[in-house]
Amino acid sequence: MIYIKSPEEIELMRPACRAVAVTLRKLRSFVRPGLSTLDLDRFAFDCLKEMNAKPAFLNYNGYPATLCVSVNEEIVHGIPSAKRILRNGDIVSMDMGAVINGFYGDAAITVPVGEISGGAAKLIEVTERSLDTGLSKVKAGARLGDVSSAIGNYAEAHGMGVIEEFTGHGVGRRLHEDPSIPNYGCPGTGPVLKPGMTLAIEPMLSLGDPELIILKDGWTAITEDGSYAAHFEHTVAVTEDGCEILTKE
Ligand code: MF3
Ligand code: CO
Repeated sequence: MIYIKSPEEIELMRPACRAVAVTLRKLRSFVRPGLSTLDLDRFAFDCLKEMNAKPAFLNYNGYPATLCVSVNEEIVHGIPSAKRILRNGDIVSMDMGAVINGFYGDAAITVPVGEISGGAAKLIEVTERSLDTGLSKVKAGARLGDVSSAIGNYAEAHGMGVIEEFTGHGVGRRLHEDPSIPNYGCPGTGPVLKPGMTLAIEPMLSLGDPELIILKDGWTAITEDGSYAAHFEHTVAVTEDGCEILTKE
């Protein structure tokens, strides 16, 4: 069941979404070679604390950290570690959720560490644009398949692989609500979008084959062929004529 949020409920979602946006913006400039992925996690935890936000992922289904930090061929759900040191040329995806007022916000970015290859830069750019393209289809009366297909078609037209095992989702009083939002699909299919739906849309793309495996830690998803992957996500509210990005400052 897809919950429709009242304007008052959307107001209540704003602080958590803003806390996520602020933290990711600060992480973007904090990232540099030599830091461990655990350093990023601690930094995120402290940022959220300052804004009186609770980490949403910590202990969610047993996930052990504030931030998901996925480097290079890692797609999503990388567990922060003191042993994983960022190096020049890496790309790092940072995914985070926060809770304030009993409402969740969820967003992700992928950023370069120092100087990266042209291929990696293109992957990051296409992934972010695929999210923008999907968001441009969101409005009351559109179908979810319009959004999903726009993301997938954009990604494939630009030579990227579309990860199919993970999807976006509704978000609100829970981190994961209906509907599930694949990053591929057919226009004119799926649920009709209505004002007040709040959605976390999150394309994950690969530079090579999109097949994935899960590491023995039970969380980290990596591309089977070792190609780099990127991830962008926003929490948005559907409006009559488009959407409002809530995970924006
Ligand atoms: N960002 C992931 C999502 O959007 C959530 C990670 S779940 C956790 O669905 F378990 F890692 F916390
Ligand atoms: Co999400």
